[in-house]
Amino acid sequence: MNHFLDINATSANALREIIDHAHTMKQARAGQPKGMLDADQPLANHMVALIFEKPSTRTRVSFDVGVRQMGGQTMVLSGADMQLGHGETIADTARVLSRYVDLIMIRTFEEQTLLEMAEYATVPVINGLTNRTHPCQIMADVMTFEEHNGPIKGKKVVWCGDGNNVFASFAHAAEKFEFDLVFTGPEPLDPEPALNGLYRTVRNPDEAVQAADLVVADTWVSMHDPQSARERRHNQLRGYQVNDALMDKAKDDALFMHCLPAHRDEEATSSVMDGPHSVIFDEAENRLHAQKAIMRYCLGR
Ligand code: CP
Ligand code: NVA
Repeated sequence: MNHFLDINATSANALREIIDHAHTMKQARAGQPKGMLDADQPLANHMVALIFEKPSTRTRVSFDVGVRQMGGQTMVLSGADMQLGHGETIADTARVLSRYVDLIMIRTFEEQTLLEMAEYATVPVINGLTNRTHPCQIMADVMTFEEHNGPIKGKKVVWCGDGNNVFASFAHAAEKFEFDLVFTGPEPLDPEPALNGLYRTVRNPDEAVQAADLVVADTWVSMHDPQSARERRHNQLRGYQVNDALMDKAKDDALFMHCLPAHRDEEATSSVMDGPHSVIFDEAENRLHAQKAIMRYCLGR
């Protein structure tokens, strides 16, 4: 049994196998109705708990569909409706859930909640986003890059904006998949110091995206950020918007990614999001395939 807690907590070999497996499983389903079961049923008779302490569209639906395609069953639980949201400890919740289900996916606030869930659960635990990281997203992003433009190794990836949780998983991936990661954003929103050494900072966005193979944006205000910080953040980040002029500085075949949900015409213009470089909906689709491969890895299938 393996947890999938973070990209930097998973071996490079396992990560590569997950990506390769995801491509194979995607190809095997090409053209089929979304509800059709996979030819093999690695999750047959398995029950999966999907816990959300924050909102979600992609993570929720892609995990739910993925489990069902592989023959398993799901229960989607809102943290607020569980005793977890009313004082029961994470450790007790983990031990109880482990008696009912075969796999737990959790989206939560503090990373400590995820780690404690994994420590006390006797079934695999998957990180569906914390304030610090979002590893499932970046597995889908690596898959999407390679699907369009071949191996990501040695490629230049430029992150524009807030040094947030999604960036942190990109930084972990840069080390494991050996790509060059550039951060361009305002100093007050620099990534956490623990990530130093995994990326380069180029403060000027025009300079940063020169010859980029991939340009990435994310929301300027994340779910865990206080709404009171919204105006300040917008003022700090406005100069890092991904628009056509910025995209033009990247390579001709550069890709544009955004994990979504997006605030159109804030962190990226609609012209970029709907333009020729954009692969945002492939990214969203690949959450499904990448996570199916992650669940198989977790259960040793
Ligand atoms: N990208 C992502 O995780 O989307 P959701 O918040 O909709 O799950
Ligand atoms: N950085 C964003 C990602 C959402 C999928 C957030 O945490 O809100």
